Amino acid sequence: MRESVEVSGLVLRPWGAEGDVGAVLEAFAEPLMRWQAPQPVDSVEDARQWVRARGAQWEEGGAFSFAVVDGRGGDGAVLGNVTVSAVDRRHSTGWVSYWITRAARGRGVAIHSCRAAARWAFDDLGLFRLELGHRVNNPASCRVATAAGFAAEGIQRQKLLYDGVRYDVESHARLATDPEPTAP
Ligand SMILES: CC(C)(COP(=O)(O)OP(=O)(O)OC[C@H]1O[C@@H](n2cnc3c(N)ncnc32)[C@H](O)[C@@H]1OP(=O)(O)O)[C@@H](O)C(=O)NCCC(=O)NCCS
Repeated sequence: MRESVEVSGLVLRPWGAEGDVGAVLEAFAEPLMRWQAPQPVDSVEDARQWVRARGAQWEEGGAFSFAVVDGRGGDGAVLGNVTVSAVDRRHSTGWVSYWITRAARGRGVAIHSCRAAARWAFDDLGLFRLELGHRVNNPASCRVATAAGFAAEGIQRQKLLYDGVRYDVESHARLATDPEPTAP
């Protein structure tokens, strides 16, 4: 199983490198990121715990989170995260999620990362079906999912509850036998 993947000037590698804690703290300081972690990431200790948890999950084999970093000979700055979680070996399924730092958005980082993580999950983990979901009021995430080859499968009504408001979620999935999406 490959522990890192290179794609289109990006490197996907496990969390835990020097500087990752600071990068995570900075990423989660932004309002759009509030709901992207099960617990708030508001302090250095929270960020350290977030990075530590990613490493523990990888070791256990239930979830695989990749830091997405700039691989074009730059400073290896963290641009975001893509995770394959809920790995169910019996049914060969998994769940994909992603976030990108505000500064790195709008240039295809999420689409490339999601596609690369899906390919990795099919080829290296041997999964067959990958699922993801996004709030229907998150069109950028919908575009990422579609461009990464995840077909929309329907709306789950009022699935998520954030700050007292319920949100409909659109489900997407990609199968190992689906055609590779064309380049974004
Ligand atoms: C959603 C998110 C991951 C997208 O990251 P990104 O690197 O900017 O995405 P990309 O540049 O790869 O692609 C974004 C696509 O969405 C489109 N897009 C962006 N904002 C949009 C909007 N408001 N409405 C419709 N499409 C939009 C872009 O045009 C692009 O599509 P294109 O390639 O066809 O032009 C990023 O905004 C993010 O991290 N948001 C906060 C966390 C989050 O919502 N995660 C997903 C949870 S399901």
